[in-house]
Amino acid sequence: MSLQEILPALDAGLILTSGVCLVLGFIFIKQKRITWHKRSMLTAAGFAALFLMVYVIRWALFGSKPFEGQGFVRQVYFGLLGSHVVLAIAIVPLVIVTLRRALRSDFSNHKRIARITLPIWLYVAITGWLVYWMLYHMSN
Ligand code: HEM
Repeated sequence: MSLQEILPALDAGLILTSGVCLVLGFIFIKQKRITWHKRSMLTAAGFAALFLMVYVIRWALFGSKPFEGQGFVRQVYFGLLGSHVVLAIAIVPLVIVTLRRALRSDFSNHKRIARITLPIWLYVAITGWLVYWMLYHMSN
């Protein structure tokens, strides 16, 4: 396997791990296990940051891969990619504010914004994985 194949697979793994930590973090807070909620969410943020680093390195080294699929699947791909990119940009400040409020123990305001941050973040993680899968396993 070449670096050009390893980096996208690594990125898909990082985003998937981040998404799993998000879901676990949500389950923990619903069970009122605050320490584990904190750990899961900080881990999710760590994996998301790693994802972003690998993504930028990959893009700088190899540029972007064109989607080869045609017809309906192409519309689905660009629909997913467009929504993914817009929300992936929006999620960065949302995550920072959500974390900052939690770490300053401003939990009632943390909870209010977290209810917006969490579903958007999950959507970004899931569509990121789908876009990767469609690009590397469907379009060849
Ligand atoms: C960006 C990362 C985080 C996200 C997305 C997140 C998400 C959430 C969500 C969705 C809730 C509301 C749960 C519900 O509907 O009942 C919540 C509550 C809470 N979170 Fe986080 N969380 C994050 C980081 C943290 C951190 C680092 C802490 C640190 C201690 C923390 C502490 C809490 C606490 C104490 C509550 C309960 C607030 C209350 O019920 O008044 N969270 N979080």
